Amino acid sequence: MHKPTKIAFLGSGRIARALIQGLLKTESVAPNEIIVTSHSGVSAKRLAEEFGVTSATSNDQAIEATSIIILCTKPAQALATITASQKSLTNKLLVSMATGIRSEDLFQAAAGKARILRAMPNTAVRVGKGTIVLSPHTSTTPEDFLLVKTIFSKSATLEEVSEEKMDAVTALSGSGPAFALLFLEGLMEAGIKASLDPKLSRQLAAHTLEAAAALVLETSATPESLRHEISSPQGTTAAGLQVLDQADLNAIVGKAVQAAIQRATQLGR
Ligand SMILES: NC(=O)c1ccc[n+]([C@@H]2O[C@H](COP(=O)([O-])OP(=O)(O)OC[C@H]3O[C@@H](n4cnc5c(N)ncnc54)[C@H](OP(=O)(O)O)[C@@H]3O)[C@@H](O)[C@H]2O)c1
Repeated sequence: MHKPTKIAFLGSGRIARALIQGLLKTESVAPNEIIVTSHSGVSAKRLAEEFGVTSATSNDQAIEATSIIILCTKPAQALATITASQKSLTNKLLVSMATGIRSEDLFQAAAGKARILRAMPNTAVRVGKGTIVLSPHTSTTPEDFLLVKTIFSKSATLEEVSEEKMDAVTALSGSGPAFALLFLEGLMEAGIKASLDPKLSRQLAAHTLEAAAALVLETSATPESLRHEISSPQGTTAAGLQVLDQADLNAIVGKAVQAAIQRATQLGR
């Protein structure tokens, strides 16, 4: 397995920015090893100015300079973008971050000439705490898979699923940080209303969610048993949990995840 000399990002929006920030922050890749493009060229130039990466004038120019291409356009633009660069994509590895777009459709869009690996990241990659879930197409080789894992291993936890699970993954770990952030905002605002300084409330809310996640990740206990450890009968936690139970928080979260899954499925059609 050879680390490629350059990586091309087609699309320079929010997720490309987060992935690039993570790669640079963790020194996984140097700025001069990254080439970016965008539809208008504006967002690509902005990334080039901000991070010292190279902005190419066309997708073909970027693809031809690299052997690994990360597709970061909106789902609606993904297949047309690949079709337009079919010739340049011959024998290249294409890693698609586009929500809902099936790897077989990407493979066909590339006229069967590129190797395709579908991936679902989240924006926490920018601080080295992301999750990237990979789903290889039959065209991907074990070396491709290992290469992608190596490139992103410092900025994300990497997982693998079969493709039919990718919409569920998209809802849980692609969109999930936004759901958790909404809860964090709720904690923070409640703290401020209860007289805490906004800065302190922000810190306490963020560390609280980090602590809950650490308890799950660093022990083998279930979230439910960990919750019982904190909640003594008639105590403060029990009083708060009763309110959340009455509002059926878990059912609401379940509906949010279902809505995101349905949207991911629609985007792929
Ligand atoms: N944002 C997230 O948290 C997140 C998480 C997981 C997955 N994703 C997936 O990542 C993809 C990108 O999302 P995003 O939020 O980063 O979108 P975004 O901010 O709207 O960025 C899209 C980028 O694609 C560029 N683009 C459009 N057509 C192009 C073409 N033909 N060639 C090259 N670049 C082209 C746009 O250029 P212009 O600026 O010139 O229009 C823009 O830079 C989506 O498929 C999304 O589902 C996003």
